[in-house]
Amino acid sequence: MAVRRPLIAANWKMYKTASEAVEFVRRFLPLVAGIPDREIVLAPAFPALEAVASALKGSPAALAAQDAFWEEEGAFTGEVSPRMLAAAGCRYVILGHSERRRLFGETDATVRRKVQAVLAAGLIPIVCVGEREEERERGETFSVLDKQLRDGLKDAFTVDPGRVVIAYEPVWAIGTGRTATAAQAEEAHGFIRGRLSESASREFAAGVRILYGGSVKPDNIAELMAMPDVDGALVGGASLEAESFARIVAAA
Ligand code: 13P
Repeated sequence: MAVRRPLIAANWKMYKTASEAVEFVRRFLPLVAGIPDREIVLAPAFPALEAVASALKGSPAALAAQDAFWEEEGAFTGEVSPRMLAAAGCRYVILGHSERRRLFGETDATVRRKVQAVLAAGLIPIVCVGEREEERERGETFSVLDKQLRDGLKDAFTVDPGRVVIAYEPVWAIGTGRTATAAQAEEAHGFIRGRLSESASREFAAGVRILYGGSVKPDNIAELMAMPDVDGALVGGASLEAESFARIVAAA
């Protein structure tokens, strides 16, 4: 069985100016100094990336962006390319977050183009998948996940599994305080790994990290991480405060 190093990522969404983000890092790093064997990732908004990259220098924590466009450069007002993100110090890029799908028209087809571009730039995509509440109620969770994986991620199936991360974020659990139970998370993660084993390869499925996201808090992370197919977390609200995110990292 491949060793999958736990990864705990903070998605700060549209919170924190550059100086607020640097202040977080200053408080946060000492709190996690003695915690080994976990990868810590911070995803600030674009204007804070370079300042956070400087603040993280010499620390084990890595930087992520929250989105990227698929072209390298050109007349694409408002967009940011993977190459620019790499130059700003990013190692990871979150793609296909449900807020981008719901509010900004992102589809599996656009996610797919972004995954290709991010991989081509040598960055690691954190690809978000997850069902909406009505889809779960209709019993469509697995078919939704299957389609999102196939249509959004298939170009990544042949790369080294360490170059890709998947985040299972059930939409009904995001920002609602309604975490999936550890059993619900494990069921979805196990399904995802099983599908990857069939459509990618057993090696890919065994090596790829699958994070859980949706109302992760200091007091529920340990239970989620105890599940065999949960390899980490993508944390929104509870990552905005240094003490709270450090408690999640410590308990993971
Ligand atoms: P919350 O942790 O605030 O539910 O957000 C989860 C999320 O969307 C992380 O990407």
